[in-house]
Parts: sequence; C-alpha cells; structure tokens
Amino acid sequence: MKIMAGNSNLPLARDIAAYLELPLTDASVRRFADEEVFVEIHENVRGEDVFVVQSTSYPCNDNLMELLICIDALRRASAKRITAVTPYFGYARQDRKPGPRTPISAKLVANMITVAGADRVLAVDLHAGQIQGFFDIPTDNLFAAPVMAADIHARLGGQSLMVVSPDVGGVVRARALAKRLDNAPLAIVDKRRERAGESEVMNIIGDVKGRACIMIDDIIDSGGTLCNAAEALMAAGAESVSAYISHGVLSGKAVERVNASALKELVITDSILATDATRASKTIRILPIAELIGEAIRRIADESSVSSLFD
Ligand code: R5P
Repeated sequence: MKIMAGNSNLPLARDIAAYLELPLTDASVRRFADEEVFVEIHENVRGEDVFVVQSTSYPCNDNLMELLICIDALRRASAKRITAVTPYFGYARQDRKPGPRTPISAKLVANMITVAGADRVLAVDLHAGQIQGFFDIPTDNLFAAPVMAADIHARLGGQSLMVVSPDVGGVVRARALAKRLDNAPLAIVDKRRERAGESEVMNIIGDVKGRACIMIDDIIDSGGTLCNAAEALMAAGAESVSAYISHGVLSGKAVERVNASALKELVITDSILATDATRASKTIRILPIAELIGEAIRRIADESSVSSLFD
C-alpha cells in the first residue's frame, strides 16, 4: 500500500501516513510557469494499492486538477488500484439542478475522477449520501460523527444537551449525532421567507430553553447559516450554542463572522487545511480525523469492513 498526497492538505496526508506507519510516496506535484500542474512520481508504484489524499477545497479547481493528474500519473505508472481520498469533496453542493439550464457539477466531477482512472473513492461526510451513486466505482463515505460525539462527551458531558439541525435538510445528520449522545433531544431551525423581499424568519422547532445546544452540519462556508441560527437559539433561551461541522470551508469573512457571533465554540475537522485566521481564532477548534481516514484506508487495503468503524 502507498499513500500519495497532492498539495491541498499535506499535514493531514502526513498524519494519515504516520497512523499507517508508512512514508508518503516520493512524488512532486508542482506547477509550470503558466500554472499548469505537473506530477512526477519518483518511486516504483507498479502493482501497488495507492491512496491519493487530496481535498478539493479552495482553490478547488486547482486542487481538483492536481487530484486528476496524480491519478493519471499513477495509472500510467501501472499502479494496481488507485483510491481517490477526498477528505473534503468539493462541488458536492451542486448535486441537482436548482433551475432550468443549470449543471449537476458534482456528477461531472465524479465522472472526471472516474475517467482519470480512480478505482475507488473514499470521502468524509459527503454533502448528500446520494453522491455515492454518482460514481460507478466503490465509494466509501466516512462519518466524522463518532469523533465529534467522543469530543462532546468529554467536553460537555453532564450538561443538559440538545442537538440542533441548523436547517430542515440536516435533520437526519442531527438525529444520528443525537443517537450517539445517549439519545439527546433534537431541535430544528426552520428558516422561512414568508414573502419575497421580506427578511427570513427563524422558527425554532423544539424547546431549547436552558439547554446547551449543539448544532451539527456538514459545511460552514460564509458562516451565515450557523451564526444566524446561533443568534436565534440564544434569543429562544438556550444556555449556550456550540457547533460541530465536518468541513470548515470558511470563505470570505467567515472567520470574522464566527468570532463576532453568539457561538460559544465552533469545532471543525482538519479535512480542509486551516488558514492562519482560522488557527488564530479563539472560537474555532480543530478536531483531527487522520486516524479515522487512516483506519478506513487500512481496512480497504485489508479488505475488511469499513462500516463496522461506525458501530
Ligand atoms: C447547505 O446545504 C450546507 O449543509 C451548509 O448549511 C451550507 O453550505 C452553509 O453555508 P453558509 O456557511 O455559507 O451559510
């Protein structure tokens, strides 16, 4: 087995390799003067089971091209099996046509990864589970929930917890976390714009008074969803609001927004390499998931069960 890395999240790739007690494959993934991606593998990979670790996060198009070109290089170097490991799978939110004459970019990206030569995909908390069906190759979708639940037990155990979905679409994810937290009660933030031009109204479904609320979502991007929901929960009498989010996209002024929000803490995983602003934030904490991904890789290589990781 070999672990190769693109440039999007080298610290995570190194941590995964360290968990597996392997060195990273000796390769250079670099740019020509005009920014074209060039990949050169400096060791023999013929007949190897190779896992390419690359989050397709910002700059998503460059990182996606790096992933595709790494896979192409491995295929042409006769690797036996190539697994695209995308701790963060970008473009996932474009998984349906929101209107006429719009693309389904998540499906296009799935096609590109397959055509490049990947034999399998390993992702973490895909925006929608159905994206697995966009691939006609085996796709494992890992959940960060067990890592989050262990952290919540350690930090907030003993408090009167309430798991909150920041929107109606996230209820299944929230319920799964609540189950891991000894069946904690569930609340939902229901955002509604009654009439065009009027501002959105946040209705809280569930009684959050006096509760330590834990919001869960797959992505924090601009921070709008979470920060507004946190404010609405505090206004409804919550004792505190923390958030556990799989992928800290945190674009634009998101970190500033989080720092100034009603959130007591935002916990993200290291699926996306943190910026300096994220690392400097006193409100944001990063949960490592290298062990989770490393263990799934070990099991895929050994052909043992991956799903039992989540029992
Ligand atoms: C949406 O469906 C996702 O699950 C997140 O809720 C969304 O991407 C968060 O975006 P933002 O932080 O920009 O509100």
